[in-house]
Amino acid sequence: MNFHVLTLFPEMIENGMNTSITGRAIENGLLSLNAVNIRDFAFNKHSKVDDYPYGGGAGMLMQAEPVYLSFESIVEKIGYKPRVVYLTPQGSVFHQEMAKELAQEKDLVFLCGHYEGIDERVLEEIVTDYVSIGDYVLTGGELPAMVMMDSISRMVPGVLNNQESGETESFAGNLLEYPQYSRPEEWHEKKVPEVLMSGHHANIAKWRREQSIIRTVTRRPDLLKKAELTNKEWNYVRQLKKELKEKNNETVNDKSISDIDTEQKNRRK
Ligand code: ADE
Repeated sequence: MNFHVLTLFPEMIENGMNTSITGRAIENGLLSLNAVNIRDFAFNKHSKVDDYPYGGGAGMLMQAEPVYLSFESIVEKIGYKPRVVYLTPQGSVFHQEMAKELAQEKDLVFLCGHYEGIDERVLEEIVTDYVSIGDYVLTGGELPAMVMMDSISRMVPGVLNNQESGETESFAGNLLEYPQYSRPEEWHEKKVPEVLMSGHHANIAKWRREQSIIRTVTRRPDLLKKAELTNKEWNYVRQLKKELKEKNNETVNDKSISDIDTEQKNRRK
């Protein structure tokens, strides 16, 4: 996988990506990183790449031409027009399946905006995918590009070793990962669940599956819609949801009782 990043801050991208697992993969030649400074393609002697928006409004816009020329430099280098991801809160929200799909590409270009955005005309000409990493606004596209490259890298064969492999992790089958424990056996008076010490592989697998289901029901019930469960497991989900609802009602009721108590006390004063 060859990553190309069009940015005003190439050193930010290089520092982030040359670290840890992605850094190792770049060293091994499984990934390559080409951070292109858009400012190198400015067409004035001050290397200015931004200007005021027509029609007025706050902030500055990145101009079309330097962005276009920096993209063209990549096309010239690789000999074809690759997919271009523009990082923007207005894009489709990034998810694991998107990471898997993008990992199939030979080259990927990430276009990082700054200021108030980029002149629409160059976006129309070069961008193939508009992607957001979540419903919040960041100061630029560099962090989102790194988030995407990190998760895409994990899906490139060979980037993760066996121990790091993504098979049984969060989002496999749309379930969250089960809790994990390491030495010591007891810490802060908390013991490792006995089943994990039993050496009974079938029981351990069963316990982990149950824990994954419990976690997903309590923390990310929205994922269940797409989860791959057996009929028995769906029944278990129903039972868990019922229990949770009862528990929540209890806490709501307890709270309302204590609210009434305080209100009465206040009135008596
Ligand atoms: N640029 C600014 N905020 C962003 C976000 N949430 N996702 C992608 N790109 C962005």
